[in-house]
Amino acid sequence: MFNRILVTGGAGFIGSNFIRYILENYPEIDIVNLDLLTYAGSLENLKDLPSQDNYHFIQGDILDQELIQKILREREINGIVHFAAESHVDRSILGPDAFMQTNILGTFSLLESAKKVWLDEKKLGDDDVRFHHISTDEVYGTLAPDDPAFEENTPYAPNSPYAASKASSDHLVRSYTHTYGLPTTLTNCTNNYGPYQFPEKLIPLIILNALDGKDLPIYGDGQQIRDWLYVEDHCEAIWQVLQNGEMGESYCIGGNNQPANLEIIDTICEILDELKPNPEGKPYASQKTFVTDRPGHDRRYAMKIDKIKSELGWEPKHNLKDGLLKTLHWYLAQEDWIDAIHKEKDYQSWVDKNYSKRKETEK
Ligand code: NAD
Ligand code: TYD
Repeated sequence: MFNRILVTGGAGFIGSNFIRYILENYPEIDIVNLDLLTYAGSLENLKDLPSQDNYHFIQGDILDQELIQKILREREINGIVHFAAESHVDRSILGPDAFMQTNILGTFSLLESAKKVWLDEKKLGDDDVRFHHISTDEVYGTLAPDDPAFEENTPYAPNSPYAASKASSDHLVRSYTHTYGLPTTLTNCTNNYGPYQFPEKLIPLIILNALDGKDLPIYGDGQQIRDWLYVEDHCEAIWQVLQNGEMGESYCIGGNNQPANLEIIDTICEILDELKPNPEGKPYASQKTFVTDRPGHDRRYAMKIDKIKSELGWEPKHNLKDGLLKTLHWYLAQEDWIDAIHKEKDYQSWVDKNYSKRKETEK
């Protein structure tokens, strides 16, 4: 078992859910969380951990090879789960530099460090260590309405700077296995949602804007399709692949939920109308506003999950309605967390930067 794990980016959305999932379900695992605490990472996300005994936080940059090698040696790390990234497509369009640094060079830095400490210094074998890389379905590009869903052998065709930087990192991971024999696994997952997601992404943005009485911005015609996965299901899948996946293999992960954006926004509004009706009695859907589309906006994502299902027995446990209900209940109970995020470094300036130039459009 890989039981001394370095998690990168563990103060972000999926990373913090993953750490909580491990500490709750596998208390024998030691975790070191290395996170730079960019705008997207917050120690608020890790406040309620079940146990601090076998959990250790280090603030640092994945570009710092010396630091990573020190952690690998001193903590005798035998598993790396690499989440740290710049993760938001709109930010990659307005400022791609950080994406190239963190997603490409940061992944290179981790791979190089793992190779040095695990392979060059200690000659550890395939079964002794594992580097698990977290990636996205966006590396596969976009689907036309009748195209078959993405699967592991779909050719890469990234369309945004974010997707291109993740595709590059995936290729680097592959090359370190092929060339140096570094034991890696890789997962390409669809859009996640759930507790602790930063409100720059669609679902938390819509929830918070709805409650604040603000516009609900719908890019283009709102008919773009994503495959939504509840974050806890993703965490379970990552754990399965880390422990039981075949070295050098990649696995596609998805939620089997593929609504158009407009449908998901309407569902959120309907649930909120029931759980916390607007004080003036107006339905939340009345706040919907169509705005200028995202440049190069991918139209449709869908994922086939046959491989992980047949080889590792994983499939999602939450359908969209259950997952959204849990998510909405969580956000409604999190005044302190939401307050902290609203006060966060550059949240308001990001909102102004991304939305002020988008014109309101006709449906
Ligand atoms: P996030 O933006 O919420 O968190 C990223 C974390 O990485 C933050 O805590 C941040 O502080 C940290 N970080 C950034 N740069 C760093 C650096 N140089 N050194 C150390 N830490 C750094 O991201 P997320 O949504 O939790 O996504 C995590 C991973 O999952 C990413 O690799 C992303 O590409 C992938 N992914 C996300 C989704 C999704 O829907 N969110 C879907 C598929 C794959
Ligand atoms: P997002 O959460 O940014 O994830 P990704 O771009 O990685 O899929 O966006 C999800 C979908 O929602 C995507 O089609 C863009 C759309 N969207 C809006 O319509 N309005 C918004 O304000 C945002 C942030 C996204």
